[in-house]
Amino acid sequence: MGSEKPLVQSEMATPLRVLIVEDSEDDAFLMLRELRKGGYAPQAERLETAEAMEQALAAGQWDMVISDYVLPRFSGLAALQILKQSGQDLPFIVVSGNIGEDIAVGAMKAGAHDYILKGNLTRLVPAVERELREAVVRRERRRAEAALQRSYEELEQRVRERTEELNASKLELERLVGELERSNRELEQFAYVASHDLQEPLRMVSSFMQLLEKRFEHQLDDKARQYINHALDGSQRMSQLIHDLLMFSRVRRGTWEPAPVDLNDLFSQIADNCRTTIEETGAVITCEKLPVVQGEPSQLCQLLQNLLVNAVKFRRQDVIPEVHVSATRQGKHWLLAVRDNGIGIAPEQHERIFLIFQRLHSRQKYNGTGIGLAVCQRIVDFHGGRIWVESEPGKGSTFLFNLPA
Ligand SMILES: Nc1ncnc2c1ncn2[C@@H]1O[C@H](COP(=O)(O)OP(=O)(O)O)[C@@H](O)[C@H]1O
Ligand SMILES: [Mg+2]
Repeated sequence: MGSEKPLVQSEMATPLRVLIVEDSEDDAFLMLRELRKGGYAPQAERLETAEAMEQALAAGQWDMVISDYVLPRFSGLAALQILKQSGQDLPFIVVSGNIGEDIAVGAMKAGAHDYILKGNLTRLVPAVERELREAVVRRERRRAEAALQRSYEELEQRVRERTEELNASKLELERLVGELERSNRELEQFAYVASHDLQEPLRMVSSFMQLLEKRFEHQLDDKARQYINHALDGSQRMSQLIHDLLMFSRVRRGTWEPAPVDLNDLFSQIADNCRTTIEETGAVITCEKLPVVQGEPSQLCQLLQNLLVNAVKFRRQDVIPEVHVSATRQGKHWLLAVRDNGIGIAPEQHERIFLIFQRLHSRQKYNGTGIGLAVCQRIVDFHGGRIWVESEPGKGSTFLFNLPA
């Protein structure tokens, strides 16, 4: 029984690697005794010079420093300085004989964690305990800060890498957009030049056909005259196609600034343009008060005129065409509607008709090139809107589109 107690005590004792800066062996002994009493198993090294202190710090791992204030060849403040220079953050407790309050304050200011009078060594253990705890907290905080700094640096590195990647793909995108713009311009230019230059030889063909007919009037039989008429017809149709293609290629983006356009003025102008058709068909065209919208006047004129011409062209047999134009405000846009009482369009064709060259009827029945609605779509598109049709066969059609207010 009696032998158990010290055994348990030494098993339970906390190891403590302590540097003791002290010239008096006796004082050091008293301190160690105090520590053992407090439940520590100190592994101590006593030293009394700066060189010894430097060596000890470099050679081993220590838990704390207990230092006298004044030694014959060394001092507490110098020891503190050396500890700091070593970069190790160990608890530093001054244990000194008579120490004035000023000196104690100075030591604490210099970085000592506590000071204890040699005559009052019972304070040593609580101070050691507290400072060891504090050291753990400091260590943990340093570790957390280091981890934070590391992840911050990693994040910075990732941001740098991402930014580089983004810049690279932005450049690539800009290059592609530039290329696309250029090839679009080239295509538009090509369509424009081609359709323009094609008109000239075409005019020549039809002029010489007419000349042929006139000059050899008496030598031509009916068959020959019929052939000449077919040729003239063909060139007439080709001329219309070229004209419409030219119109299509002239609708361009970015070549104009949106300006206010009064659709009422535009409407009267269009009604004037289409007077012959209206008179011939007896069409009744009505129109509500229309808004002022933002856009390009000649494009908007083309848009509205194409829709009105279609509305009259695709009329039912023996039914007087009635066309009504209306507008409703929808937030930042106007919704315009051109409604007719014509032949209507089957639902499955509602999207197809906006594609270039797409027509639902033979030329004999309704003439045309199938370009008009493609032009309308392009114009509305360039004005930032959408165009679509609501229609049922036999019940008329309503073409709807929006324009910026
Ligand atoms: N108001 C309408 N009523 C019925 N069908 C229409 C109407 N507008 C257009 N369409 C159909 O859409 C097709 C395409 O129209 P569009 O592009 O203007 O060509 P085009 O007038 O030269 O035939 C027309 O051929 C016609 O079949
Ligand atoms: Mg048309």
